[in-house]
Amino acid sequence: MATITVRNLDGKTKQALRERAARNGHSMEEEARLLLNAGSILDHENQTFSGSVDALKVVDEASNVSVDPNYPARGKTVLLIICGGIAAYKSLDLIRRLKERCVKVRVVMTHAAGEFITPLSVGALSHSKVYGELFNREDEQDIGHIRLAREADLIVVAPATANIMAKISHGIADDLASAVLLASNGKVLIAPAMNPVMWNNPATRRNADTLEGDGFRIIGPNSGEMAEQSEAGRGRMAEPMEIVSEIGRILDTRAKPLLGLKVIVTAGPTHEPIDPVRYIANRSSGKQGYAIASALSAAGAQVNLVSGPVNLNEPEGLNCIRVESAEEMFQAVKSSLPADIVIMVAAVADWRVINSADEKIKKKPGSRNPVSLKLAENPDILKFVGHLDQRPELVIGFAAETQNVIKNAKAKLKRKGADWIVANDVSPETGIMGGDNNKVKLLSSDGVEQWPVLAKDQVARRLVEKIISYFEAAVIDV
Ligand code: CTP
Repeated sequence: MATITVRNLDGKTKQALRERAARNGHSMEEEARLLLNAGSILDHENQTFSGSVDALKVVDEASNVSVDPNYPARGKTVLLIICGGIAAYKSLDLIRRLKERCVKVRVVMTHAAGEFITPLSVGALSHSKVYGELFNREDEQDIGHIRLAREADLIVVAPATANIMAKISHGIADDLASAVLLASNGKVLIAPAMNPVMWNNPATRRNADTLEGDGFRIIGPNSGEMAEQSEAGRGRMAEPMEIVSEIGRILDTRAKPLLGLKVIVTAGPTHEPIDPVRYIANRSSGKQGYAIASALSAAGAQVNLVSGPVNLNEPEGLNCIRVESAEEMFQAVKSSLPADIVIMVAAVADWRVINSADEKIKKKPGSRNPVSLKLAENPDILKFVGHLDQRPELVIGFAAETQNVIKNAKAKLKRKGADWIVANDVSPETGIMGGDNNKVKLLSSDGVEQWPVLAKDQVARRLVEKIISYFEAAVIDV
């Protein structure tokens, strides 16, 4: 898939892109993506846009988020209702993320939202009029609350305050936001944000239950620090990208070719304790495994994601089991079996410390004796799964190599009893470990397929497409 890093374009090209984007009323990222989708690249010399774009990448300048060209809500209309909460500033980012995915965004702001952000910034980002008044003659003639409700493929309330939740769960319609919600018979996603005490208040609990019972989808709130000083707990609005993903899932009308299949995916590093405060680890970020788990889930599979310690949000819609050590990962995989597919993406530590200490190991002043750790090999989880009597139909391993990639990967394919191995060169200069891109080779009994540099979520989708074809072919074989 063609991609380009806007940030890395030279000055003239950037200017050409900026001018072209302004002419067409798009953001620079949007414009770049459209050009790439049309198979063009930017050529500032003659102001044309042509050529091949295999190795380029559209990355959002601010957050390094790769824009998903297959985002399921592309071309759909989202009506975003912004309520009055400190998290309203995140809604600006949410609008941006949706716009760059070609979602049409209409916005209703409550009066209280206007205390936190301005209609001007919302209008500039959404490229459309911002609605606020229930009894505004112009708006009623223009579109009105009934049409606002009906013309949306999805209504998203973000941030949703305790107040709006109370109103909609009781059918109150005393402003435009609540009137639109009452007039809607479509899908509604609510992203609550409030102080944890308000979230835990029995009234809010009741209202949340009522809303869920009435078919509203609720995302979050997440746990963490509150904007108020020294307040923490559950109440933070879900992150914009989490909401973007959830919107994609709700509006996803694509077929679910892996429906009914159970998959186990391992991801991330493992931590092998040395003492209660120290451990042996590796540089795996978990991004590739998480992307694969999400893509499988989007294709309808029932996914158990066994994750080592990573700094990533748990993807929605799948079962995430958090583990620390290789031994714990092994137990979690075993207890998740049987499965139709197992994909071992985790960078499992090869060794554990057998003389790990229960107390923090202290330095011995003056001692010249070297401290030594005794290491024992960890169980090879992939090898275990690959040689099971009741083996999953498809067992896929990863081979992270820094040399002789194909030779080593072929040996692993055989030794571990895997059907496929996804091999990559993880030498530090490739930036793959921890980075957003990956360049892999897929090895199977059919040979070796070389894939170009792709964003990790694109690698995930391509792998899932392969898996879908494999299972389709298997059905035909029967
Ligand atoms: N793997 C596993 N259990 C282990 C070690 C590795 O399940 N104890 C899996 C990994 O998840 C991956 C594959 O085996 O799918 C290959 O991992 P890799 O670290 O590349 O291979 P190793 O077996 O550890 O071999 P080496 O470190 O010697 O390259």
